[in-house]
Amino acid sequence: MTSASNRQFRVTPGGCLRGDIRVPGDKSISHRAVMLGAIAEGITEVRGFLEGDDAMATLAAMRALGVAIDGPKQGALQIDGVGLHGLSAPAGPLDLGNSGTSMRLFCGLLAGQTFTAELVGDASLMRRPMRRVTEPLARMGAVIHATEAGTAPLSIQPAAGLHTIDYAMPMASAQVKSAVLLAGLYARGQTTVTEPGITRDHTERMLTAFGYPVESHGGEVRVSGGGRLTAGPIDVPADISSAAFFLVGAAIAAGSSLTLRDVGLNPTRIGVIEILRRMGAQIDIEPASSAGGEPVGTLHVTPAPLHGIEIPTDWVPLAIDEFPVLFIAAACAHGVTTLSGAEELRVKESDRLAVMAEGLTALGVAVETRADGLTMTGGPIQGGRVHAHGDHRIAMAFAMAGLVADGPIEISGCAEVDTSFPGFVELAAQVGLRISAVEQAT
Ligand code: S3P
Repeated sequence: MTSASNRQFRVTPGGCLRGDIRVPGDKSISHRAVMLGAIAEGITEVRGFLEGDDAMATLAAMRALGVAIDGPKQGALQIDGVGLHGLSAPAGPLDLGNSGTSMRLFCGLLAGQTFTAELVGDASLMRRPMRRVTEPLARMGAVIHATEAGTAPLSIQPAAGLHTIDYAMPMASAQVKSAVLLAGLYARGQTTVTEPGITRDHTERMLTAFGYPVESHGGEVRVSGGGRLTAGPIDVPADISSAAFFLVGAAIAAGSSLTLRDVGLNPTRIGVIEILRRMGAQIDIEPASSAGGEPVGTLHVTPAPLHGIEIPTDWVPLAIDEFPVLFIAAACAHGVTTLSGAEELRVKESDRLAVMAEGLTALGVAVETRADGLTMTGGPIQGGRVHAHGDHRIAMAFAMAGLVADGPIEISGCAEVDTSFPGFVELAAQVGLRISAVEQAT
């Protein structure tokens, strides 16, 4: 899964975003559709599946665990569910590429199996913290070996039965919550997870859609083990995290007028819209019918003068993946934007506070970082060279800055864009971004 090429983007200034598009399917929901479809009873038909490297890594791992899956064919999958106890031992390590969601959710799902599984990934994933899931799972009776540093490779051994846990998460993380809930499906009795801040609830919604009882009130989520999931159709909405690049691009580039169709508008994911609107952005929402327990709508965005804001800390988990591009919006805003309570950004695919600050500084934007956030002052964006450090969202965020920069922006380390947004360059060019990509062998 490690990229053998160093893709570079070059964006020339000018241009605006105009058109009517649908960005690819939601990454979080695509992972869960494969995982829950695999352990359901019956055939799950998925439409709108994201054919990006991360969700494809989950799919390949499920096949290695003995699940027959047809597709994807233009986003359509047919998963022949094996039931909660039907997974089988993989022949070798499961390579989860760049995908933290795959690794953490698989930890929960595999903790209660009767076979050994080894989880590995690319250089970035092998550096990411896994103790946040192995520690609560160990308290449930799971046997998981990690490195001294608490990182992958992870070896998940058969456990002598899992017990329940009442777990107060130390950080607001949907991946940790989901890992514990998935392990809870295999434990006797009721497992409870309490979150310190509201995080995305796709696991809870999809379990419910599969007929599995989940209780969720005021930041506490409960499941009891020993139930069953019944297969059914799943429509994956367009990913709001991918739409976010276009929302910001059209908000900052004069002359833009962009419609984004079928975007997932789960209340635990719409922080990016709330933050942009508070900054003055003009985003209209037309709700559509909900698909598979997830609300969906059409967004229309036109340019507006933006101003800096203090981002409320309780909105941070609701926009956790959108900060790279929100920093581009803040760079184009009048005045100061402050973000606090966002230390989780330091342990994503890259240290997103450090990497964004490095790139913004190279483009002449004033940024000051702190352990848990940053302060930036909007102003002109110069052309220049930046490095995405193999982080898909950093690459796409800087590409949008090219709309308003006063010279070309060259971005290196962009190959991982395919993890979440295959076809980004083509779609962005189609609506007016002056972008080209060059592959350089490494
Ligand atoms: C995700 C949860 C978030 C997010 C990630 C996807 C998920 O991670 O950043 O891209 O699908 O559960 P954390 O739970 O670590 O915040």
